[in-house]
Amino acid sequence: MRKKIVAGNWKMNTTVPEGVELAKAVVAKSSEVPAGVELVVAAPFTHLCPLAGVLEGTKVGLSAENCADKEKGAYTGEVSAAMLVSAGCKYTILGHSERRQYYGETDAKLVDKTRLALANGLDVILCVGENLEERDAGRHFDVCGEQIKNVLYNFSAEELKHIVVAYEPVWAIGTGKTASAEQAEEIHAFIRKTIAEKFGAEAAEETSILYGGSCKPSNAAELFAQKDIDGGLIGGAALNADDFIAIGKSF
Ligand code: PGA
Repeated sequence: MRKKIVAGNWKMNTTVPEGVELAKAVVAKSSEVPAGVELVVAAPFTHLCPLAGVLEGTKVGLSAENCADKEKGAYTGEVSAAMLVSAGCKYTILGHSERRQYYGETDAKLVDKTRLALANGLDVILCVGENLEERDAGRHFDVCGEQIKNVLYNFSAEELKHIVVAYEPVWAIGTGKTASAEQAEEIHAFIRKTIAEKFGAEAAEETSILYGGSCKPSNAAELFAQKDIDGGLIGGAALNADDFIAIGKSF
């Protein structure tokens, strides 16, 4: 049985004290979320050490939002996978569309980042998704398929067990526009099929594929009811503990 996951992506929001309060509020309500659902919060680098203390021994896992494509050394401003592990992270998000769009993150770089993250014992939440122009041109399957092939196909079936995919249509991120459950499901099924082509049906069945893009308490249940949607990567709604927990209860 593949894992059900609800992961909050805080992006560049909250100061450290605000983040600690938010994490405490999530932990306080986390028992309301069914035992089979994994909760994760992905926070800015500055927040990771204090959050690790708050989350230790709870059912809420800690994630970074990015990691370096180099192991260590003279890379001013970067944070390595080994550093994230030492700060208490279990996961890192990689390839978020905001990083692809604003920080020039390429699939090739994501291969390096994923390799280092896995080698250091992190699980990876790998984001893929098309932008509005690509969706309007009917290229969404091609774009997502290419992103999956360019990154995931470089890894082994064993490594795949430590990778969660997040499908995030760029046009739905932070816009209030959610993909309909049908639109999301057809891409999720396609991503699973693309994974199966390389790794086999069984490995694809075991891979969790999350939906992200204006997911909120009012639409999470319909999305999570789809056969190939195994949870969500939540931006805006993860900044409110009640909303985040409500989404965690939506399976
Ligand atoms: P959103 O962001 O829920 O605010 O649309 C999702 C994400 O970018 O991960």
